[in-house]
Amino acid sequence: ATDISSIKAFAESAKISAIPSTYISLKEPHHAEVADELSAQIPVIDLSLLLSDDPQLHAQAVQDLARACEEWGFFMVINHGIPESLMDEVMSLTEKFHNMSVEEKAEFADKGVSTPIRCGTSFNPKAENVHYWRDYLKVITHPGWAFPHKPEGFNDVAKEYCRVTKNVARKLLEGISESLGLEANAIAKATDFDTGLQVFIANLYPPCPQPELALGMPPHSDHGLLALLIQNGVGGLQINHKGKWVNVNPLPKSILVNTADQLEVASNGRYKSILHRAALNNKETRVSLLIANGPNLENVVAPIPELLEKEEAVFRAMRYKEYFELQQKNKLDGKACVDHIRINPT
Ligand code: SIN
Ligand code: FE2
Repeated sequence: ATDISSIKAFAESAKISAIPSTYISLKEPHHAEVADELSAQIPVIDLSLLLSDDPQLHAQAVQDLARACEEWGFFMVINHGIPESLMDEVMSLTEKFHNMSVEEKAEFADKGVSTPIRCGTSFNPKAENVHYWRDYLKVITHPGWAFPHKPEGFNDVAKEYCRVTKNVARKLLEGISESLGLEANAIAKATDFDTGLQVFIANLYPPCPQPELALGMPPHSDHGLLALLIQNGVGGLQINHKGKWVNVNPLPKSILVNTADQLEVASNGRYKSILHRAALNNKETRVSLLIANGPNLENVVAPIPELLEKEEAVFRAMRYKEYFELQQKNKLDGKACVDHIRINPT
């Protein structure tokens, strides 16, 4: 099964009732360990309040962000200003891309983690013992900025979506900086965020005949600062909250935001990157679109100096390019990457 180059093509061609053994990643059915009562407690951030001219409304939103980052590392953003039509269009073109045949997508097949456009399956089949029930397309939109030339219209729509998403991420990062008692610009400036790495990651999870044994993505944290996700109406994202797995049921048209490793580093461990995974189902194809926003690849990321006036650094500095490659070239393994640069691992 290690030669499967598209799990979608495999699932559609073989009428299987049992998954290949190399896809079994769970010893116990995972629904047993899901804490459903926590789903309704996932924080909601109203971006229009964060951007409000009213100082009180703004201060309240900053406080909400602080709590969301401290306690969850995850929140749903509403009133984000991204047109619904653009979200629908980018999702539909993303599905169209995945629906092209393996032959039509062959020119984009993975040729290494730093290639600007690559599609493949699982996370890193060569480095893994266990594979994941997922196909992906990854486009490095900055530095870079060219999408696949098909399907028709993909390039223009995806670029526009990436542009507006980056603006939302920028505003959130300003609120997050303020919530740490820093200047609004502090994290963006320290990480060269405006010229930072942005990756467009389109995931497709076909129906899986044994969804309780496999995963679409293993438990992991993301490498960048803030990742913004939308999906096609089919759930599957689970976040880890204080040791329990929680299903994310997004509010309609909200954007799901998770805090990633470089925010944990910049905040000197105050805002921990969240552990999350993708669960599967046996009925519907799930498509998710994640825009990962990080520091500039040449930036040497370290805890923000102002935060070190009263505390010791918890992380050592590392150039983001090296960090990114470390995460992408190995198997996805919880928080192994960020633990690697922790000064006193517990
Ligand atoms: C991811 O963690 O990168 C994707 C998760 C999802 O598809 O919801
Ligand atoms: Fe992720």
